[in-house]
Amino acid sequence: MDATLRKILKDIRPQMKCERYEHTYGVMYIASALAMRYEYDPKKAMLAGALHDCAKIYTCKDYVKECERCGISVKENELKLPHLLHAPLGAYYAKVKYGIEDVDIINAVRYHTLGRFDMGLLEKIVYVADYIEPSRKEIENLAEIRALVFTDLDRAILFKLENVVNYLKKNDYPIDNNTIELLEYYRENFGSNKG
Ligand SMILES: [Fe+2]
Ligand SMILES: [Fe+2]
Repeated sequence: MDATLRKILKDIRPQMKCERYEHTYGVMYIASALAMRYEYDPKKAMLAGALHDCAKIYTCKDYVKECERCGISVKENELKLPHLLHAPLGAYYAKVKYGIEDVDIINAVRYHTLGRFDMGLLEKIVYVADYIEPSRKEIENLAEIRALVFTDLDRAILFKLENVVNYLKKNDYPIDNNTIELLEYYRENFGSNKG
């Protein structure tokens, strides 16, 4: 194992609940398998997977405080779902605490929760690996997404977005405008009518 990766895992392990650490491990290895499938560097994918939830260690109000301490701006809508701040905070930790300079890895951590338009390959890999790793609780269409991700990464992202938006609607949680726009974009470009 890469020395940087070993150091990161050693550092995050005591900070996380057992389930969160297992999830991290799952994302790390699924991301590396997907990297192999899509001809990306599996070592970089492992680093991104290991780091993706490295800041998911706080209570809701502590995320805001920690972001302020680190000089990360918090938007109005992020105050409603402060746990989402673990993504920008994780990207900050990746750079500052763990010395990661690779922009692909930083962005994969930064955008793993909400995704974005024009995601790079590693961003897409971590975005779906987070959703399908083996310890993930059973969710709708999970088996289908797990199979699809190895043949069509963008369609798998569309499935995840559909699921996420349905879940948020069903539970009356706030939905970010960017998420709706991203779903529309993926429907238009990778929906079933696009073959
Ligand atoms: Fe996360
Ligand atoms: Fe995660």
